[in-house]
Amino acid sequence: MNQSAVHRILAGRPPKGRESYAKAYSMRLAANFTLLQEAFLELYPGREEVFMRFCELLDSQFKKRPEALKKQDMERLRSGNWYQSGNWVGMQLYVDRFCEDLKGLEKKLPYFESLGINYLHLMPLTRQRKGENDGGYAVNSYTEVDERFGSQEDLERLTALLREKGMALMLDFVVNHTADSFPWAEKAKAGDAHCQSLYYTYPDRHIPDQFEASLPEIFPETSPGNFTWIPEMEKWVMTVFNSYQWDLNYSNPEVFLAMFKNLADLADLGVDVVRFDALAFLWKKIGTDSQNLPEAHRLISLFRLGLQVVAPGVILLAEAIVAPAQIVKYFGEGRMQGNECEIAYHATFMACLWNSIATKKTLLLRKSLENMPPKPDACTWINYIRCHDDIGLGFDDAHIAELGWDPPQHRRFLLDYFCQRLDWSPAKGAIFMYNPSTGDGRITGTAASLLGLEKAMDADDPEGISMAIARIRLMHGLVLGAAGIPMVYAGDEIGMLNDYSYLKDPDRVDDSRWLNRPFQDWDKVADLDKPGIPSSIIFKDLSQFIRLRTENSVFDDRGDMRLHDSGNDHIFAYERRSGTDGVMVLGNFDEKTQVVDAGWLARQGYIREGRYTDLLSAETSELQSGLLELKPLALLWLKRS
Ligand code: GLC
Repeated sequence: MNQSAVHRILAGRPPKGRESYAKAYSMRLAANFTLLQEAFLELYPGREEVFMRFCELLDSQFKKRPEALKKQDMERLRSGNWYQSGNWVGMQLYVDRFCEDLKGLEKKLPYFESLGINYLHLMPLTRQRKGENDGGYAVNSYTEVDERFGSQEDLERLTALLREKGMALMLDFVVNHTADSFPWAEKAKAGDAHCQSLYYTYPDRHIPDQFEASLPEIFPETSPGNFTWIPEMEKWVMTVFNSYQWDLNYSNPEVFLAMFKNLADLADLGVDVVRFDALAFLWKKIGTDSQNLPEAHRLISLFRLGLQVVAPGVILLAEAIVAPAQIVKYFGEGRMQGNECEIAYHATFMACLWNSIATKKTLLLRKSLENMPPKPDACTWINYIRCHDDIGLGFDDAHIAELGWDPPQHRRFLLDYFCQRLDWSPAKGAIFMYNPSTGDGRITGTAASLLGLEKAMDADDPEGISMAIARIRLMHGLVLGAAGIPMVYAGDEIGMLNDYSYLKDPDRVDDSRWLNRPFQDWDKVADLDKPGIPSSIIFKDLSQFIRLRTENSVFDDRGDMRLHDSGNDHIFAYERRSGTDGVMVLGNFDEKTQVVDAGWLARQGYIREGRYTDLLSAETSELQSGLLELKPLALLWLKRS
């Protein structure tokens, strides 16, 4: 059954008082039992005994879930899909780079409030591998806070504080792999057969060669191949990402059981949203690329349904940066619809926005979004212009070709445009994981540097600076108007430029994603009252988008974001509606003035008697002619009247 339907049924007869929590738990277990059993036994045929242990685990996890969280679970069940409100605005940050540690973060809560941020994605906080650790994604524990960030009590205090303030917390669950120094890996190296069976370990190249025949490389420059020889255990182990990240072997149900416990314990720390890291890779099969396999989906459903029973207020985010048609599958399909992840990154929207910046056109953006299968009503997106990772060129080649562009040449152009291979481009980014044999590569850089601010500031070019600020405003404004939860990478709200310090750090020098993970510049923040400087302008723009978004109910996600053909290839148009209220978002990607037909906007209710109202400028203006003009890189949020 769809989760929202279960929610509705439970909300219809909410038992009161403490024993009610247990009663509601039994109802949830009963409601989900058949699906759980089917999904488990499909994945692990004949393993009824392990399934019974899973059910016992559910019971013990529910019993130890803290009372305050059980209370919140019930409130959430009663209030419907809290994550679809337009009021949530997220920020993603590395605690140490933002404010040193968890105690420091408590002191920064007023900063988030001043911008309107109420949803925090804190990058991996639990114990990590020493030295290189993939930005924290090589974990030694799923629940114990790494002492670099503070103590377990610091995290508990922070989560209680966030709850009190009505803020949401998202933490990662690195579900696909552990560090090579994780306790299981250490025991495996010491010869423990059980722990070796939790990973894909092989004494010779026979099976690894069969896997590698069809497995793509994720980090071809720094970690070619998919297996690593471990001399201590004299075995090969599967390492799809970095050589120090060992892939968990989910074909062994003991792995699922142990990882479910880790997930439920993580939820008990007071996490509201669990980011399921690299979840497309969870199931491996010889002869396939081992991504997006049906078994991976079943496994995610099992995690989801189990969590639904023990911690129903906690939801999952799919970190599936995969082909557009694959992404929506992580919301669950068929009878599992709504039973995988409630949220997914809108990686297609993100990648296409960057394509529009480089080409100044919006055709690929519209085509890609129009061709995506619809998402279930009860699910939502995280919309973002960039995150801590690289920007991948995740478009469908067929769509590029339909627009008359040659896909490999077009991808090459985008890499050239953003990665400093074209003199005339304002962008200052770097290439990530370039693969000369395929020509594939990805892009790194902060939003401001990729959008021209760094180059213009270096050249002391006021015209270039204002164009860069207009690009930044356009990109943020399109994301902040869209359906879903907007997520800003910390520092982008003040236009932070690339951070080149990683080039001097031997543990980071090979990973150009550190370019886009700058330390927060609190001096800049202290100067936000100074008018006319880029950081103040950008911060002010963002605060305004956020304020308007939270004041206006058209921005709730009711599955209503309608794309429009503006009739002008440079202008992207989408509409948000709630009853007769509406906002038409228009963005001009060209660096010249462009026009749209006023008749079309009048028919949609956005121009009346030759006048239109823009929420962003808070002005009602008269049309200059029969056409609506958009200045270079302009953004309008037209109000329906
Ligand atoms: C996810 C993370 C990325 C990491 C990878 C492997 O994609 O976002 O930073 O490198 O998983 O853990």
